Amino acid sequence: MLTVRAPATSANLGSGFDVFGVALDRPADVVRVETADEISIEVTGVGSQYIPEDPDKNTVGAVAEALDAPARIEIDKGVRPASGLGSSAASAAAAAVGLNELYDRGHSREELVPIAAKGEAVVSGDAHDDNVAPSIMGGFTIATDDGVTKVDADIPLVACLPDIVVSTRDARRVVPESARVDQLVETVGWAATLTTGMHRDDPDLVGEGMNDTVVTPARAELIDGYSQVRDAALDAGATGVTISGAGPTVIAACEDGDRRAVGTAMIDQFNAVGVEARVYQTEIGDGATLF
Ligand code: HSE
Repeated sequence: MLTVRAPATSANLGSGFDVFGVALDRPADVVRVETADEISIEVTGVGSQYIPEDPDKNTVGAVAEALDAPARIEIDKGVRPASGLGSSAASAAAAAVGLNELYDRGHSREELVPIAAKGEAVVSGDAHDDNVAPSIMGGFTIATDDGVTKVDADIPLVACLPDIVVSTRDARRVVPESARVDQLVETVGWAATLTTGMHRDDPDLVGEGMNDTVVTPARAELIDGYSQVRDAALDAGATGVTISGAGPTVIAACEDGDRRAVGTAMIDQFNAVGVEARVYQTEIGDGATLF
C-alpha cells in the first residue's frame, strides 16, 4: 500500500483565471492505494458524506481508469469539498501520483497533470489544470494548453473559508462570456505583475496582480459579505485579496507578520454578516508527497 499527501490549492489568483494556481502548505488530502482486481473507493474525513464512492462519479475513479490502474483507494479528506481550495483536485492529484508509482507507469509529474484533470472534469464538467498542476507539482504554476510552467515562490497567504457552499458548476455559469479590450489590457498587466512578484517573492507585486474586473466581480455575488471581507483584509495589511478558485474561500497575500491580523479581520467580517468562517494561515507549499 502507498500513501500520498496532496495539498489544497488556490486557482486563478484574480488575473489568472483557469491558468494560475498555487499549492498551499495546508490543508491536504491523504490517499492510500493498493493493487486490486477492480477500482473501489472509500472516502472519510471533511465533507466525505457529500462525495460519491461510485468510481464512475468520483474524481479518482476517472484517474484510475486513465492510468489503467485498478486499485482499492482510500481517500481521507482534509480539504472541504466545494470550498474553492481544489478539494477534488487534491484527491485526483494524490491518486495520480500514487497509482503511477504503484503500477510503475513512469509518467513525469507534468505528464500526470492532464491525467488528474480528467478527474476534475467528473465534478466540474470541465477539464482544467489550474488546481491539479500545483497539487501535483507544488509552487506557483502557470497551466496552459502547452503545458505547465512552475515557479518556486515564497509568499505568505491567508485563506478564509466561510460556511457557505458554492459549487464549481454554479460558479462557472456566472462567468461572463466576453470581456472588453480595456479589461484584457489591464488583466495582462496584472498577470505579468503577479508572475514577476512570484519570481521575486514580493507580496506587494503578487497582491497587485490579484486584481480582476471580469470573473471575480460576477462570482462575488455568490459569496455573502465578500466585499466587506476584502476591504477588511486590505485594511489589516493584505497586499491583495481575491476569490480562491470558484469560491467561497477568500484568499489574501500579505507580509509574514500580518497573517494573524488579516485572518482575524476576515473572520470578523464574515461573522458580521452572519456567516461562520475558519482561517488557514498558510504559504506556498510543495506538491504531492509519496510516503
Ligand atoms: N479555474 C477554476 C474556476 C477553478 O475558477 O472555475 C475551479 O475548479
